[in-house]
Amino acid sequence: MSSKEKIDIAKLPQHIAIIMDGNGRWAKQKGKVRVFGHQNGVKAVKETIEAAAELGINFVTLYAFSTENWSRPKYEVDALMQLLVKTINSETKTLNKNNIRLLAIGDLESLPKNCKKELMEAINSTSQNTRTTLVLALSYSSKWEIIDAVKQISLKVKNNEISIDDIDQNLFSSFLNTSSIPDPELLIRTSGEYRISNFLLWQIAYSELYFTEKLWPDFRKEDLYEAIVDFQSRERRFGKTS
Ligand code: FPP
Repeated sequence: MSSKEKIDIAKLPQHIAIIMDGNGRWAKQKGKVRVFGHQNGVKAVKETIEAAAELGINFVTLYAFSTENWSRPKYEVDALMQLLVKTINSETKTLNKNNIRLLAIGDLESLPKNCKKELMEAINSTSQNTRTTLVLALSYSSKWEIIDAVKQISLKVKNNEISIDDIDQNLFSSFLNTSSIPDPELLIRTSGEYRISNFLLWQIAYSELYFTEKLWPDFRKEDLYEAIVDFQSRERRFGKTS
């Protein structure tokens, strides 16, 4: 029985978040420069979205560029931004054909102008699509997002638009970049690293974590199916007893 056949379609996670890791090591293993790994990571991105859409997963969030990634060598940052522009440009048609909506979270103002422009155009062009939502985390870090929410809420308190007593989990969530997106039930990280790396810290409070040794450019549909099967074998208690 293949992993896909083992999936219980009635119990799919509605949101899967992925830390795509291992591009640099994948390239190094092949004696190539790191950017080669990122370029080959695009194939894994496409396979993952396609598999998720075929299964009927509502949201997929990909950690494509973290706030910390700005500290990488300039040539790598430039190459990643170019790759992003190129991929968004070439894939928007396919997203529309497959009824997939694109969203982005993160400090989008810090992106290069052409990158932000392409991104916004793709987001607008796909905004009516309903099958699956692909969320790109770009120039994103959870601590940045949380501080940003705290600042927005503080300003509202200062202007007497809300009172301190109004602040609860729901209100706080509504000031996060992910306000329109349900929390992920499943978080996947590739490349055998066991870290969260400043990704969706608030939102993964009760997510199931799945780690795989596969390096991101090698990640395929079958790997996503395996992660979902593993997720479905777990008992989610949310702090209660079984
Ligand atoms: C982590 O691998 C990966 C990234 C920082 C970038 C991910 C980008 C892509 C997969 C390409 C474009 C994406 C889209 C959505 C079009 P790493 O460089 O940290 O690898 P390492 O840990 O082996 O060094």
